[in-house]
Amino acid sequence: MTDLSLSRRLLHWFAVFTAIFTWLAVISGGSVTSRNAGMAVPDWPTSFGYNMFLFPVSRWVGPIFYEHSHRLMASTVGILLLALVVGLMLREPRRWVKVLGWCAIGSVCLQGLAGGLRVMLN
Ligand code: HEM
Repeated sequence: MTDLSLSRRLLHWFAVFTAIFTWLAVISGGSVTSRNAGMAVPDWPTSFGYNMFLFPVSRWVGPIFYEHSHRLMASTVGILLLALVVGLMLREPRRWVKVLGWCAIGSVCLQGLAGGLRVMLN
């Protein structure tokens, strides 16, 4: 196996992992809605005034847990997709696959914005 094929295999499995994680983030969004936890964290992009990533774990209780963990999972999806697109730009020869990667980044930004506006415009 050449170096190139090894890196493309890794990229493939990273893409699969990202897809599975995204599915979990969608499930977590559904849990926010079904538990009526949509406004448990009333501000965005901060969480009760904290930087979202520094919000104390001791306060992740009840509906706040579902809303806050959904935001963190959504952010992780964004980070995974950024890493995936970097990998695609470096190792993927097919143009349409690279375009698909950029479309995924655009979609997740729009979805994140929709989530944030849902909170801010409540
Ligand atoms: C990867 C990005 C995201 C995905 C895939 C995603 C997905 C979802 C899904 C599937 C739902 C359930 C909708 C329903 O059952 O009708 C949901 C709800 C929700 N999401 Fe997200 N979301 C993302 C990002 C965000 C972000 C960044 C925020 C920031 C505040 C957010 C806040 C919310 C809120 C407040 C709800 C509950 C809406 C309600 O019950 O009225 N989401 N999300």
